[in-house]
Amino acid sequence: MALPELRLPRRAGRRTNLGLLLLLLVAGGTGVLGYTVGTAPATTLVAAAHGAAGLGLLLLVPWKTVVVRRGRRRAMHTRRDPGVAIALGFTVALTVLTGVLHAVGLPGPWPVLGGVAALQVHVAAAIVGAALLAVHVVGARQRPRRTDLGRRELLRTGALGLGAVALWGGLEGLLRLTGAPGGRRRSTGSHERGTDDPTAMPVTQWIGDAVPDDRASALEVVWGDSRVRLDADELDRGDEVRATLDCTGGWYAAQDWRGVRLDRLLAGALPRGLPDGGSVDVVSATGYRRRLPLSDTAHLLLATHAAGRPLSPGHGAPVRLVAPGRRGFWWVKWVVRVEVVDAPWWLQSPFPLQ
Ligand code: HEM
Repeated sequence: MALPELRLPRRAGRRTNLGLLLLLLVAGGTGVLGYTVGTAPATTLVAAAHGAAGLGLLLLVPWKTVVVRRGRRRAMHTRRDPGVAIALGFTVALTVLTGVLHAVGLPGPWPVLGGVAALQVHVAAAIVGAALLAVHVVGARQRPRRTDLGRRELLRTGALGLGAVALWGGLEGLLRLTGAPGGRRRSTGSHERGTDDPTAMPVTQWIGDAVPDDRASALEVVWGDSRVRLDADELDRGDEVRATLDCTGGWYAAQDWRGVRLDRLLAGALPRGLPDGGSVDVVSATGYRRRLPLSDTAHLLLATHAAGRPLSPGHGAPVRLVAPGRRGFWWVKWVVRVEVVDAPWWLQSPFPLQ
């Protein structure tokens, strides 16, 4: 009599673990992908897939609880250390919790926990979780079976996916109906902070970067042997663009930016004219840099002003890059050099290493 009861949970356990693994891989992959896209509909699709995969984990919690209880009973007879599994469970729970806090908009319209943005805690927990998951999966390796791709399993996976999307859609609907701050976030998931009021924009930098002590007073334009030094005061040439700075820390602000279009600056500073192909390196006083295609320079601005006011030191004074449609880490601050190079723009780390 007891046999069928024991066999069912065992298969259900394997399915639960594979379902969790799939959702974690989709959540991790779309989380990273989300930072590489900056405009709708790509942002909407990626954020929806991410939210659904992350929230879908909650659907499997009841099943996983059974699996964990059974594993604990078995661990009494084996020497396997459950430390990694416990740490993994904790980091995944923290990742989901901070992701939901960010999405809902709690605490505050741009959720900050003890001085650190909820989203930063979220990403850090996800990175630690990825390392723990790798160790856990190697330790609890399961051989693939042909039935894993059978009709029944695919139907079950489809049902899990639908449930996950419904959960995400339900939360989104609730946020909009209740007027919660999260109901007004951008398609990237970012909350509005300081549109048309640069003083209200948070000052945030990429991981190891920091506001430099000294303000640069000049910018160098370089191509091969050509080197032209331009005074920072010469860079406000009245070119304007309205663009949205969307920070990977989870906030965004639209501003009227003013300064000089990068293609005009390069054409004026380089007597030989611009090459047909290649890229441009935009380098900060801190050493932080990003490489962009030369063909994009008509859409890039070196800004000295936002909303009619000179940039503040925290927002990149005297000059920063404005890269419409790209996430904030492309908007290099405290620019001291722009250099035309032959190397393709994609030949760089997808995310800054500094
Ligand atoms: C496997 C690890 C991860 C899990 C389980 C997870 C889970 C979640 C969850 C549940 C949410 C709330 C979604 C919503 O309610 O709409 C969320 C939001 C978010 N996550 Fe993750 N996440 C993971 C990894 C990452 C990574 C690695 C990144 C970025 C590098 C990231 C970036 C984001 C962003 C930007 C949001 C806000 C999206 C929005 O508000 O719609 N996540 N995540």
